[in-house]
Amino acid sequence: MNRKIRLRHLIYGLAGLAAAALVALWAGLMPVTASSGHWRITAWALHWVMQNSVRTDALFVEPPDEVDDPVLVRRAAGHFDTACRFCHGAPGAPAGPLPFNMTPRPPGLGHAAHAWSPAELFRIVGHGVKFSGMPAWPAPARDDEVWAMVAFLRALPQMAGPDYARLSGRAATADAGGSLPARAGCVACHGVDGGSHGGAVPVIGGQRADYLAATLTDFRDGRRASGIMQVATAGLDDDMIARLARHYAGRQPEPDPAAPADPAEPARGTAIIADGMPEARVPACSACHGAGGADPKPGIPRLAGQNAGYLATQLQLWRAGTRGGGPRAEVMTRAASGLSDADIRAVAAALARGDGSGVYEGRQP
Ligand code: HEC
Ligand code: HEC
Ligand code: HEC
Repeated sequence: MNRKIRLRHLIYGLAGLAAAALVALWAGLMPVTASSGHWRITAWALHWVMQNSVRTDALFVEPPDEVDDPVLVRRAAGHFDTACRFCHGAPGAPAGPLPFNMTPRPPGLGHAAHAWSPAELFRIVGHGVKFSGMPAWPAPARDDEVWAMVAFLRALPQMAGPDYARLSGRAATADAGGSLPARAGCVACHGVDGGSHGGAVPVIGGQRADYLAATLTDFRDGRRASGIMQVATAGLDDDMIARLARHYAGRQPEPDPAAPADPAEPARGTAIIADGMPEARVPACSACHGAGGADPKPGIPRLAGQNAGYLATQLQLWRAGTRGGGPRAEVMTRAASGLSDADIRAVAAALARGDGSGVYEGRQP
């Protein structure tokens, strides 16, 4: 009997406390002002919860073999400058003034690579942090882009101001003055001529203008997935897209001597491009992209001379059904579904070399 009464008192007491807390929240007594900062214990508790959550999530992440590839560092650097520096700052380039008034204030990232493992950085950059303002990656299907950002964060502790200016394209943008692609923000990553920058970005110089315009619109409207390019195209109107497409279509970038050599056997790739693989229901690529991928039909991209790493990634995305694109993108999902990893490497290498296409005739790759 006695024990029953004590239990009842305990329940009444807890219910009373909960009601008082609810009244306090309803009356607006809990401050949500960023200007007042966190109590020290709140800041500690939130960070502790965040660390534990990231650590547990990261148990299920398998890092790729090559986490610190310099090509990846370069691929992510320009995006860091437009999408992250404003909050976190960078070597020789300070954060914007507003994030100083955020709660929590975004930390500098010079030591993030020491504090977190690659898998943990992957979770933070890929998924963001609730209640803090740290955003998630805009394209959930693009793990490969998130890994590029992890490579960049790992290179950050050793990076001096001038390195950052070169890698992020700030220097190139300043050199390009007020030209159209500089004003649109493209020069940082694609330069004025649209070359591959050592394999960091696709070659867009000399690509068909109709394809360039269509695919830029697909990025902008969210039909094609890329956290980097969706951000880069978000503010472009149709007229600007058409002008940028004409600009890059009219360029002829030098073949990139720094493009990584691919060890794949190209003869096999050349055969798939010309004849397909009927047994695996893979069509001949040349039927739409032209001989050697150099002479495509209207609206279809030229592939000869494109960078091998980019081609392989796109084919993998298609095979997985996550690349996106225009109304005819479905044909590529079907074309890629019968390709093995080895086929993809071989086809990408053959296309990059321009085998059987004549694109490099008279030019030194
Ligand atoms: C709107 C501001 C904002 C932007 C933009 C932003 N972040 Fe953050 N980021 C934060 C805040 C705030 C935290 C602190 C989160 C916490 O500790 O709970 C954070 C935390 C981090 C951390 C963990 C740092 C540490 O030492 O704990 C990493 C890594 C990071 N951000 C990377 C990035 C990258 C990469 C980008 C760009 C893709 C980016 N952030 C964009 C606000 C931002
Ligand atoms: C921050 C770096 C960055 C900026 C800025 C940027 N790009 Fe890109 N661009 C990339 C990367 C990386 C890719 C590869 C995307 C992928 O893997 O899906 C790409 C892809 C593209 C493609 C697709 C090429 C193809 O063959 O399908 C086009 C077209 C393009 N960019 C044009 C532009 C234009 C025009 C601008 C300026 C408005 C621009 N980009 C700004 C990095 C950038
Ligand atoms: C029936 C026509 C057709 C065939 C056959 C075809 N493609 Fe495509 N391909 C397309 C179209 C259309 C696109 C553009 C899709 C979009 O972005 O909307 C494309 C795009 C691509 C791209 C993306 C290029 C870039 O710059 O992003 C690659 C890579 C590619 N194809 C490789 C291949 C390979 C390899 C084969 C042969 C195994 C092949 N294609 C066969 C029609 C075809």
